[in-house]
Amino acid sequence: MRKVLILASGNGSNAANISKFLKKTDSKNEIKVLCNVKKAGVFNKMKNLKIPCILLENNFNILLIKECQNFQPDLIILAGFLKKIPAELIVVFKKKIINIHPSLLPKYGGKGMYGDNVHNQVLMNKEKETGITIHYVNEKYDKGEIIFQKKINLNKNETLSTINAKVKSLEMKYFPIAIHQLLYGSEY
Ligand code: GRF
Repeated sequence: MRKVLILASGNGSNAANISKFLKKTDSKNEIKVLCNVKKAGVFNKMKNLKIPCILLENNFNILLIKECQNFQPDLIILAGFLKKIPAELIVVFKKKIINIHPSLLPKYGGKGMYGDNVHNQVLMNKEKETGITIHYVNEKYDKGEIIFQKKINLNKNETLSTINAKVKSLEMKYFPIAIHQLLYGSEY
């Protein structure tokens, strides 16, 4: 049994996908989702999966630290989470906080580089490849140690939506596997 805390701010497709995978591999796994955006799509997705999803709107950092102290997660997963993680959590949960980024870091990372902003830059620069990066979280946006990367080739006809779809399918396939490896120390 493992305890996992997922932080999300948006649609929640990664949060749902990870939760399904972790429940399938061990139904005793405990999963909790925290979200800082009231209207985020993640609430409905987690409701359908019967997984607790809690809104932390005000005093987010203080409440997050409390949740971590009480829940004592084995892993904290940022899945489309757009707030900075408080420094004290990074110290206490060293190598236990991970993020997924929709590009091949260090390319197209940093503040403001999320979602379509990333893919638009990739398009503008006529990149021949893009991909995903799973990395530990440190005090700088998208700068923590890289755990895993996967590339995909891009052709000259790509659009924002084709890149989005390609990157999303990498996220759906590889993020749960990387998480499993970190939690259990073995390949799934
Ligand atoms: C993903 O593309 C992820 O790489 C990035 O934010 C997006 C979240 O999407 N960090 P979703 O909310 O999981 O659908």
